[in-house]
Amino acid sequence: MGNGIAQVAARAGFPVVMRDVGEDLLGRGMTAIDKSLQRDVDKERLTAEAKQAIFERIRPTTDLSDLREAFLIVEAVTEDVQVKTEVFRTLDRIAKADAILASNTSSISITRLGAATERPDKVIGMHFMNPVPVMKLVEIIRGAATSDETYQQIHCLTEKLGKVPLECNDSPGFISNRVLMPMINEAIFALYEGVASRESIDGIMKLGMNHPMGPLTLADFIGLDVCLAIMNVLHDGFGDSKYRPCPLLKRYVDAGWLGRKSGRGFYEY
Ligand code: CAA
Repeated sequence: MGNGIAQVAARAGFPVVMRDVGEDLLGRGMTAIDKSLQRDVDKERLTAEAKQAIFERIRPTTDLSDLREAFLIVEAVTEDVQVKTEVFRTLDRIAKADAILASNTSSISITRLGAATERPDKVIGMHFMNPVPVMKLVEIIRGAATSDETYQQIHCLTEKLGKVPLECNDSPGFISNRVLMPMINEAIFALYEGVASRESIDGIMKLGMNHPMGPLTLADFIGLDVCLAIMNVLHDGFGDSKYRPCPLLKRYVDAGWLGRKSGRGFYEY
């Protein structure tokens, strides 16, 4: 997600600092950007020179303090509330006083992340969708303390990125994952209970509902660990058993079958 966000910002003309924890991960991020832009060069929607210019606007780094001059920092670390809270605390120390701190979290409370900083009015959710260069939506989440000024700035910036900002208040899973994840979880229950094969479940939803991917394919695409983390946020946040994650999803995550990124999920890659 991080490299997708960096690519979209650089393509819109912004200078970008892309920070990751290690050189290998940064290298993988830059390779993903290269591949993604090359699709458009191959389709003659982007010149090789323009691609190079986008690439040069992205400065990869492993040093968090390189974010010191940024007017906006978009966090896209692992979907774990402790990790994210710690990152926000650190960013709050590093960033300029007027910088906005955004999270790409798919379900964690923006209010809680804001409370970890001395600038909760400047903390907001910018939830991009995967694959970031293709998907039009950015779900914008206001925490309890997010100011109108911060919201307006992010709304405007999202449009400059060529995306459509749609607003929502802070609530577990926001709108996107409150609606999407129970559908995916239900598809996993159907597989678990032997109601239908993976191909039937996906085919029924693709051909019958015109979804671009069936729910099990989409779960593999998102990452099963991410799906489980989101279901846990919904389950804990609402305290309602209708959000309990399917045991099959838990078993796959325990086995390290995380979907496309690990080579195996509900399908093999
Ligand atoms: N970078 C750039 N372009 C890409 C790309 C990438 N990584 N992946 C696909 N594309 C482009 C292709 O170049 C192609 O462009 P054109 O049609 O303009 O030529 C277009 O996207 C379609 O790609 P393909 O023909 O290769 O494949 P497809 O038609 O099967 O589409 C897909 C692929 C766009 C991923 C489509 O299957 C899809 O929309 N799937 C659903 C994705 C989805 O639901 N995402 C949200 C997940 S939830 C989330 O992200 C948030 C969360 O919190 C969990």
